[in-house]
Amino acid sequence: MSRATLDKDPHEVASMFDAVARRYDLTNTVMSLGQDRFWRRATRAALKIGPGDKVLDLAAGTAVSTVELAASGAWCVAADFSVGMLAAGAGRHVPKVAGDATRLPFGDDVFDAVTISFGLRNVADHGAALREMARVTRPGGRLVVCEFSTPTNTLFATVYKEYLMQALPRIARAVSSNPDAYVYLAESIRAWPDQAELARRIGDAGWGQVRWRNLSGGIVALHAATKPK
Ligand SMILES: C[S@@+](CC[C@H](N)C(=O)[O-])C[C@H]1O[C@@H](n2cnc3c(N)ncnc32)[C@H](O)[C@@H]1O
Repeated sequence: MSRATLDKDPHEVASMFDAVARRYDLTNTVMSLGQDRFWRRATRAALKIGPGDKVLDLAAGTAVSTVELAASGAWCVAADFSVGMLAAGAGRHVPKVAGDATRLPFGDDVFDAVTISFGLRNVADHGAALREMARVTRPGGRLVVCEFSTPTNTLFATVYKEYLMQALPRIARAVSSNPDAYVYLAESIRAWPDQAELARRIGDAGWGQVRWRNLSGGIVALHAATKPK
C-alpha cells in the first residue's frame, strides 16, 4: 500500500500515483459526483487557448485533463513524474513527457499557456513549480491553476470538511485500488491555502494580473495569471 504524507516526499508522491493510476479516472468521477468534467471544461475556457497555441498541462497524470485542453485545437503536451499515471493514459493520443514540475525539461519562453489541474497541491515545493511554469511560458502567456480550495459558505464548508474526512475515505474503499491515497487527498485539501493566499503565492512566483474564480461554491478555484512582458 502506498500513501504519501503531508511533507510530500517526491518519491512517495510518484509511487502513490503509480499505485492509483489504473482506476484514477473512474475514482475521480465517482468522488467528485461527476463535477470533474465541468471543472475541466472551465479550466480550458479560462486558459483562452485555440489553434496555433502551444500548451503545457503539468501534473497531467493520465492526460484526462490534457485531452480536454486539446479539444480547443491547441497543441497540448502532458507532463508528469508518475510514469504509471502517464502509462494509464496511453490510449489518450496527446504527446506525453516524464518530468518533475520543479525542474521542467523545457526551454525558456516556449509555451503560450501553462496549466496544472489538481496537481499543484501535490508538489512538495509548489513555489518552485510556479516559477518553473513562468520560466517556460512566453512573456504575455497565460497560467491557470485548477485546484481544490475553500468553500465560501461557512455552513457548507463545515459539511464539506466532514465529507472529506469521513465519507470520502469510505467511498474510496469501494472504488479505488488504493483507498489510503484518498486519506492523503482529504488531508492535503484541508491543509491547502485558501484562494487569497494561493493568489499571493502565485504573484510571489513572478506572475502578474493574478485573479481567481470559484467553481462549485469554492470546492474548486481557478486561479489565472499572466507572465509580465
Ligand atoms: C491528482 S493528479 C492530477 C491529474 C490530472 N491533471 C487531472 O486533472 O486529473 C496529480 C498528479 O500530479 C503529479 N505530480 C505530483 N507532483 C509532481 C511533480 N513534482 N512533478 C510532476 N508531476 C507531479 C502526480 O504524479 C499526479 O499524476
